[in-house]
Amino acid sequence: MNSRYHEVYAGWQQDGDAFWAEAAAGIDWFTPFDRVFDPDQGVYGRWFVGATCNMCHNAIDRHVAGGRADQLALVHDSPITGTKRSFTYAELLAEVEALAAVIADQGIGKGDRVIIYMPMVPEAVFAMLACARLGAIHSVVFGGFAAKELATRIDDATPDLIISASCGIEPGRVVSYKPLLDGAIAMARHKVASCIVVQREQQRCDLVEGRDIDYAQAVAAAKSAHRKVACEPVAATDPLYILYTSGTTGQPKGVVRDTGGHMVALKWSMKNQFGIDPGEVFWAASDVGWVVGHSYIVYAPLLHGCTTILFEGKPVGTPDAGTFWRVIAEHEVAALFTAPTAFRAIKGQDPKGEFVGNYDLSRFRTLFLAGERADPETIRWAEDRLKVPVIDHWWQTETGSPISNNPVGLGMLPVKHGSPGVPMPGYDMAILDDAGHEVAPGTLGNVVIRLPLPPGCLPTLWNADERFRSAYLSEFPGCYKTADAGYIDEDGYLFIMARTDDIINVAGHRLSTGAMEEVIAEHPDVAECAVIGMADDLKGQVPCGFVVLNAGVTRDIAEIEKEVVALVREKIGPVAAFKLAVAVKRLPKTRSGKILRATMQKIADGTEWAMPATIDDPAILEEIGTALKDKGIGG
Ligand code: COA
Ligand code: AMP
Repeated sequence: MNSRYHEVYAGWQQDGDAFWAEAAAGIDWFTPFDRVFDPDQGVYGRWFVGATCNMCHNAIDRHVAGGRADQLALVHDSPITGTKRSFTYAELLAEVEALAAVIADQGIGKGDRVIIYMPMVPEAVFAMLACARLGAIHSVVFGGFAAKELATRIDDATPDLIISASCGIEPGRVVSYKPLLDGAIAMARHKVASCIVVQREQQRCDLVEGRDIDYAQAVAAAKSAHRKVACEPVAATDPLYILYTSGTTGQPKGVVRDTGGHMVALKWSMKNQFGIDPGEVFWAASDVGWVVGHSYIVYAPLLHGCTTILFEGKPVGTPDAGTFWRVIAEHEVAALFTAPTAFRAIKGQDPKGEFVGNYDLSRFRTLFLAGERADPETIRWAEDRLKVPVIDHWWQTETGSPISNNPVGLGMLPVKHGSPGVPMPGYDMAILDDAGHEVAPGTLGNVVIRLPLPPGCLPTLWNADERFRSAYLSEFPGCYKTADAGYIDEDGYLFIMARTDDIINVAGHRLSTGAMEEVIAEHPDVAECAVIGMADDLKGQVPCGFVVLNAGVTRDIAEIEKEVVALVREKIGPVAAFKLAVAVKRLPKTRSGKILRATMQKIADGTEWAMPATIDDPAILEEIGTALKDKGIGG
C-alpha cells in the first residue's frame, strides 16, 4: 500500500506554520490572518490571529455562489417518525437566513450565547448555522439530559435565548421536552429572556406567553418578508460554540471551539483523513448534541460541499437491524461514521449480517468508528459483512477532530485491529509515566499531546482559564493530558486502552461517575456511595452504584435501590443508563480512606484482581463480591 502519510506528517513536523497556512487556503477569509500561530496569545497560543471569517458563509453561502445551489446539502431520514425531508444548499440558505432574522429580532448578535436543546430534526442544524451566521455562540445540549443538567449549562453559558422543540421521540415513547425546558429555566439562576420552540406534530406543547415564540410561524413570517441577514465577520479566534462535556465533578466543562482553526482542521480532515470529495454523501450516525454531531453531521460535510445525513433513529428496532444499510443504499452514502456500540447492537440482532444482502452498497467505501474503543471482534464482523475498510480513529470533545486516524485520503496504512491509527499532523504525541518521563514503545502510560494543540482544539474552557490549566495542562508541563491511558507501538500506532480519570464510556457517550455519585449522595438514606463502570457486551460500559445506607435506616432496601436509580435518571437523564444500585454495608478503602473503585470494577467484571496492599479491611471486598453475586453479577 502506498500512503503519503509519513511524508505529510514529516512535512508538518518540519514547518507547522507552512502546513497550516496551506490548509487554510481551503477556507474563505474575509480578511487574511497576520500570523498562523501566535504563541503569546491565550493560554497556550492562538491560531490564525488577525483573520476574520464566518462559518456559515463557508458552510453554505459560498457553495450556493459556487455552483452547488441545487445539490442536496441536508437529508433528514427519520425512520422513527416515518418521514424524510431534504434540503438543497439554496434551500438550506433560505431556512438559515430566515431563522437568523428571527434570532436577530430577539436582540441576539455577535458573542451572545444561544442554547439549542433539540432532537435530531433539521431545525437543530438550521439553529446552529443561524447562530454561526450572526456570530452568536451556540451551545447544544443533548436531548437525553435531564432538566438539572440543562439548568447547569444555562447558568454557565448565560444565554439570552434557547431554541428547543416540543418533543423528541425514542423507541416506544415520546419525550416531552417542554416540561424539561420549563423546569430547567425555573431552576437556573440565570434568567433566559426568550425561547423559540419547534412544534412537532407527535406532541405539541403550550407556549409561555411573552417568552416563547413559535418557530414555524416566525420563520414563515421572515421568509415572506424576504428578510436577508448577512454573515457577520468574526475573528478567527472568536468562539463558534461551547460544548459541555463530562468532567470529574457534576460541573461539566464548557469546551470552547474557536472559528477559524476549527474550519481549517475540519476541511483538511474531510479529504485527507476521511477520503471524501465535495459532492459526495457523508453520514455520521451520531447526535447533534455530541461533538461528533457538531463536527461531522453539521460543519465538516457542509464546509466540504458534501451532502450530510441527519438520521433520527437507532441502529436496531427502527424498524430492524438493516436500517443502516437501507440509509446507505438509498442516499448513496460514501462513508459512514458511528460508534462501535451501534455495530454491536446490529451484530446482536443479526449475527450473520443477513440484512446486508438486501441492499445495494456499491457506493459505500469506508466505515469509520470512534467514540469508544473498537473491539477487534466487532471490527472483524463489520469487515467480513461489509467488505469495506473499517477504520477505528480516536478523538475527544476537546479536540473537535481526530487525534489519530488511518488517513484513507492520503492512502491507507495497514490496519491494526485494536489501534485507532497513527497521530494526525498537528499532534505531537508522547506516552509518559506518572512522573512525566517518556516510556519505551509498547509500554502503557499517560497519553499526552505536546503543546501547542493544533487548530480546532479547545483554546480554553468557557470563562475558566484556570480550570483549563489545572485539568489539562498542569500535570505534565508543556503537554495536554488526554486522560487516556495507552501506548505507541514500534510502528508509531497508538493504542488507547482506558481513561485515567473517573469518566466512563456508555454506548459511546461520555459520562462522569463523579457526577453520578454527587446525585446519589443527595438521597436522604445514603451515607456514602461509589459508582464504577462495569463491562457490558452492548454498551461497552454501564454504571453500577454501590450505596452505604445511613445507620438506623429500616426501610426496604430494594425500594431504596430503586429510588437511587430513579434519582440519577431524574437528575442526569436517561442517557446515563444507570440501572443498577447495590446496597452494601461498607465500601472498600485504603488505609488513607481512598475508595478502591478499580478493584470493585474488576470484581464486577469477573476479571482477576489482587488484594491491594494498602486495603483497610480485606473482608469488605468479599462483601462486595457477594452483594454483586446476589444481583447475578461478577465471576
Ligand atoms: N432524548 C431522550 N432520551 C434519550 C435520547 C434523547 N436524545 N437518547 C437516548 N435517550 C435515552 C434512551 O431512550 C434510553 O432510555 P431508556 O433507559 O428509557 O431505554 C437511554 O437514554 C439510553 O440510551 P442509549 O444509550 O441510546 O441506549 P439504547 O438502549 O436506547 O440504545 C444503542 C443502544 C447501542 C442502540 C444506542 O446507544 C446507539 O445507537 N448508540 C450509538 C452511539 C452514538 O451515537 N454515540 C455518539 C458518539 S459517536
Ligand atoms: P468524547 O469527548 O465524548 O468524544 O469522549 C472521548 C473519549 O472517548 C476519549 O478520551 C476516549 O477515552 C474515548 N474514545 C474515543 N474514541 C476512541 C477510540 N477510537 N478508541 C478508544 N477510546 C476512544
